[in-house]
Amino acid sequence: MNLELAAIRALDRSDILAPLRDRFDLPPGVIYLDGNSLGALPRQTAARVADVVKSEWGSGLIRSWNTADWIGAPARVGAKIARIVGAMPHEVIVADSTSVNLFKLLMAGLADRPGRHVILSETGNFPTDLYVAQGVGQLMPGVEIRIVSRDTIEDAIDETVAVLMLTHVHYKSGARFDMPALTRAAHAKGALVLWDLSHSVGAVPLDLNGAKADLAIGCGYKYLNGGPGAPSFLFVAEPHQARLQSPLSGWMGHAKPFAFHEAYRPADGMQRFLCGTPPILALAALESGVDLFLEADMVAIVAKSQALCGLMIELVEERCSGLGLSLATPIDPDRRGSHVSFRHEHGYAIMQALIARGVIGDFRDPDILRFGLTPLYLRYEDIWNAVGCLRDILSEDAFRDPKYALRSVVT
Ligand SMILES: Cc1ncc(COP(=O)(O)O)c(C=O)c1O
Repeated sequence: MNLELAAIRALDRSDILAPLRDRFDLPPGVIYLDGNSLGALPRQTAARVADVVKSEWGSGLIRSWNTADWIGAPARVGAKIARIVGAMPHEVIVADSTSVNLFKLLMAGLADRPGRHVILSETGNFPTDLYVAQGVGQLMPGVEIRIVSRDTIEDAIDETVAVLMLTHVHYKSGARFDMPALTRAAHAKGALVLWDLSHSVGAVPLDLNGAKADLAIGCGYKYLNGGPGAPSFLFVAEPHQARLQSPLSGWMGHAKPFAFHEAYRPADGMQRFLCGTPPILALAALESGVDLFLEADMVAIVAKSQALCGLMIELVEERCSGLGLSLATPIDPDRRGSHVSFRHEHGYAIMQALIARGVIGDFRDPDILRFGLTPLYLRYEDIWNAVGCLRDILSEDAFRDPKYALRSVVT
C-alpha cells in the first residue's frame, strides 16, 4: 500500500486524543520521539510546581506536611498510578528511583523464598536490573544470578528460582513479554515474579492483578511525563504485603515514624516500602503528569500507540528501503511496546543528524536507533515528517559529516 500524506492527515483529523497535544509545552520545530526516555513537559506542571514552591513551601513551610498533605503524596500518587497498571489503590506507592525499588523488592522477594537461591533474568535486560541483581548477589552469599536468552526463560524456571526478574517491554527492541503466561509459569514452580514496567507504564495495557503479578516497579519520567529523574513506583500484590519487608528500613517505612521509637517496626501495607523523606517537588511534577495522563482514555492511547508504531514501520519500509535499516521491533502490536527501533551500523551518527534537523530520538549501543511514539502529544503527520527526514539523511549520506561522530556522555 502506498501511504499518502493526505490519508495520514485524515488520521490526525479523526484522532480523539489530538486536543491533548496542546496540553504539552513542546518546542517549535521539534518532532519529539523520545518520550519513552524522558516524557515531554505538561503545561500544567510548571504552574503546579511553582505553586508548591511558592505557596506550600514558601508560605506553608513545615506545616504543609499536614496542611498540603505532603506526607500522603507517595500513597496518593501511587493510587493514581495503580489505575494505569491494573492494581488496587493500596498496592502501589511512589518512592526512590527504579533501581532502588528494584533492590528493595529483589531482597524482599529472596527473603520470602527460603531454600531458593536463584534470581532468573534475561540476557540483555536493562543494565540497572542486572547490576542491582549482581549487587544483591554480593550482599547475599550463595545467591546466583542466572541469565538466559528470552526464548529459554520459561524452561529455565525451576525449583531453585526465588525471583524471576523481567523487563516487560525491552528497552532496545521494544519486544513485550506475555505477562500472564510467564507469571503462571513462575508460580507453577513456586517462584515470585518481579516485573520492570519502565517501558510499559502508560504505553501498553497493563493488568497486574489480572495477571496475578507479585511485584513490579517502574519509571515516572517516561510515558507518565513526571519530569527528569521523577520518583519511581513499586507494586506489591496485596496477599504478599504482610510478609515482605524492605531491606532499607528507614523511618518513613516505620509503623509510627513520629513516635521516634528506637526499634524498627514496619508499617502495614505499602508504606513499609518507603525509606526516607519523600521528594515533594518531584512528586508534585509526577502527580501533574499522571493527572494529565488519567484524563485520556487508555483504550484510545493503546490504539493510537499501536497505529503510530505500525505507521512508522510501514513508512520506513516503504520510503527507506535499501538504505541499510533493519527493523529490531516485533511486527505484532501485541508483542511490542510503544517504541520502534531500527538497526544501522552508523546508528549513532544518523541519530545525531536527525536531532540536528529537529527529530529527537535516541541511540542505544551498538547500533539501535530508537523512536518513542507517544500517543498524547504526537501527530501521525509527525511520523511522516520524521521518516522523510530519516530518508533524506540516509540517501544524502548526511550522517557521514564528522561532527555527528562525536559522542556525548548521554546518547
Ligand atoms: C527497563 C528500565 N529499568 C530501569 C530504568 C532506569 O532506572 P532509574 O530510574 O533507577 O535510573 C530504565 C531507564 O531507562 C529502564 O529502561
